[in-house]
Amino acid sequence: MEFIIYSIYTITLILLILFNIYIYHALFSSKFGKYPPFAPTIGKRKKIILDKISEILKKSEKQITFLDAGSGTGTIIIPLAKKFPQHKFVGIEWTFYPYFISKLKSGNLKNIELIHGDMFKSNFKEVDILYCFIVENFKKPLSEKILSEMKKDSIVIANGSHFETMEIVEEVKFDKEWLSNSIYFYRLK
Ligand SMILES: C[S@@+](CC[C@H](N)C(=O)[O-])C[C@H]1O[C@@H](n2cnc3c(N)ncnc32)[C@H](O)[C@@H]1O
Repeated sequence: MEFIIYSIYTITLILLILFNIYIYHALFSSKFGKYPPFAPTIGKRKKIILDKISEILKKSEKQITFLDAGSGTGTIIIPLAKKFPQHKFVGIEWTFYPYFISKLKSGNLKNIELIHGDMFKSNFKEVDILYCFIVENFKKPLSEKILSEMKKDSIVIANGSHFETMEIVEEVKFDKEWLSNSIYFYRLK
C-alpha cells in the first residue's frame, strides 16, 4: 500500500514539474504572451481541421501548397503530408524543440519542408492554403501580411482567431469546449 501511495506521489510530482517547465518555456518563448506559445491542436478540434483540409486537398486536381504558420511539432501538417503525397506542405516554426520534434516525426517524407524560422520573414505568395493557431495580438500583423501577399481565392484557416478584415466562408463553433473560440475559414477576394 505504501509503495502505491509513494508511486502516485512521485508520478504526480514529476507531472507537475514537467507542466511547470512547459509553462515557463511557453512564457519565455512567447515573449510573455506577445507571440503564440507552443500548444498543439488536439482532440475534436484537430479531427475537424484535418477532415476539412483533407476535403479540399482531395478535390484539387492541381498541386496545392499548404502552409502551417507556426507548425509546432507538426500535429496538423505531418498527417496531411502523409495522406496527400501529391500536394506540397511547408511548416514554419521558430521555437527549436517543437521544430526538432516535427523534423524527427516527418522522417523522409518528400513533400514536406519544415523551416526553423520566423513566419514574417517568409513570403506567402505561393501559398494556396494557410493554416494558423495564433494569439490575439498576432492577428493584425498576420492578417495584413496574408492580405498583401496571398493570391485571390486562396484559403485561410484560423484556429481560434477571427480576422475581421476577411470574410468568413465557414465557422465551426465549440460552445461546450474549454477553448470556446471557433475555427474560421476564409477565402481571399
Ligand atoms: C499554438 S502553436 C500551434 C502549433 C500547430 N500549428 C498546431 O496547430 O498544432 C503556435 C506555434 O507558433 C510558433 N510561433 C510563434 N511565433 C512564430 C513566428 N513568428 N514564426 C514561426 N513560428 C512562430 C510557436 O512557437 C508555436 O509552436
